[in-house]
Amino acid sequence: MADDLLIHELGLTGDGIHQSEQGRVYIDRTLPGDSIRAKVRKTGGVLRGDLIEVVAHSPHRLTAPCQHYAVCGGCSLQHATEEFYRNWKVEIVRVALERQGLSPKIWHDPLFLPGGNRRRATFAATKRNSTVRLGYFRRRSHDITDITSCLVLDPLILQLRLKLETALAPALQEGKTVDVFVQSINGLSEVVITGPVGEKGVPDLQMHEAAADLVQASGISRMSWRAREHDEAEVQIEIRPLQAKFGSLDVALPPLAFLQPTLVGEHALVAAVMDVLPMTGKFADLFSGCGTFTGHMLERGSVDAYESVGPAIRALNKSKGAKSLNAVHRDLFRNPLGRDEASGYDALVFDPPRAGAEEQVKELALSKIPRLVAVSCNPVTFARDARILVEGGYVLDSVKAVDQFTWSHHVELVAAFTK
Ligand SMILES: C[S@@+](CC[C@H](N)C(=O)[O-])C[C@H]1O[C@@H](n2cnc3c(N)ncnc32)[C@H](O)[C@@H]1O
Repeated sequence: MADDLLIHELGLTGDGIHQSEQGRVYIDRTLPGDSIRAKVRKTGGVLRGDLIEVVAHSPHRLTAPCQHYAVCGGCSLQHATEEFYRNWKVEIVRVALERQGLSPKIWHDPLFLPGGNRRRATFAATKRNSTVRLGYFRRRSHDITDITSCLVLDPLILQLRLKLETALAPALQEGKTVDVFVQSINGLSEVVITGPVGEKGVPDLQMHEAAADLVQASGISRMSWRAREHDEAEVQIEIRPLQAKFGSLDVALPPLAFLQPTLVGEHALVAAVMDVLPMTGKFADLFSGCGTFTGHMLERGSVDAYESVGPAIRALNKSKGAKSLNAVHRDLFRNPLGRDEASGYDALVFDPPRAGAEEQVKELALSKIPRLVAVSCNPVTFARDARILVEGGYVLDSVKAVDQFTWSHHVELVAAFTK
């Protein structure tokens, strides 16, 4: 049976929320002010509504610009006006902080970056009847879309999609799905396959021939493979190394190297970090990846970079222009930098994964470092960690929201603390 519902607010992950007597009902692709018809069901203890129709439109609603929006699971908020979308993104950060009783002394103007330049994507690919279909998953499904355009991705990556479908056909197993990660930097691209390939599930002659065809026919510079997520990727063929330049640091990127999803986003985050970093000193870069911030920090002093991915640390240690760099392979969740170790730095930057850096921050909170700079892609874990720092005597000086994840519910931020 269908219900008539009014949408009261928009949740943190982009679902509209109707407040019913039974509790909150989440309905995706809706907005506050929409009157809708939906079928409500309970899954995993949560009330969800399947949208049947929008009866009366919210004043914030518009037609999504992407022709694939109805089926593709990539974006979550293309159907809202620019003004509404921007306010919502900033609210996500403000509310996360407010829930932890925090408010920065300065809110820097948020930065909204243009879409259409995302330089990394993970597609799914399945082979059926000898034909490969490669694309994003459909919304709320494990079927793969055959989208022909995307307003978020760098067009170069989308062009590779069709070439990959053809080239990978001999290498994939019938009926099996693999992940295909594509990353593009400075006009060069890499592909990393995760999952079973070849007759026995591992690279064989067929796979090597497919890899050779791929680099010849598509201009891809390197192709790698791994059996499972979290395994190290093995390079199958490389005709040109992928290089990145971070400030004065030249780094040969290993397969699957973490890069900020867009180049404009990288520049914006680096600028925001460097704005609040002292002009000179002894610095630490925690969760450094391949050196996005390290390279620029080196222009102001010495840097100890800490990171748990071995190939990233090896790449940093081999990089050119790294005279005052010390790159350390360390798991900062299990073995956080201790308060005394940390106290020798003039400033420390930390940019953890979405889970945040709770154990690490407990140590930093008790350190004597005068300046901490946090970069975060998850306002909720950031706010949790920021509260630990504030309880340890730090002052939250400033926060700047940076939206490089256009039309998604994700938002990045840079925050500065002093003690
Ligand atoms: C959001 S990325 C930031 C990387 C880098 N700062 C940049 O902007 O390119 C988070 C980084 O944390 C690393 N990481 C994840 N878990 C870790 C852990 N337990 N200890 C140390 N580093 C970790 C990841 O490998 C990744 O490089």
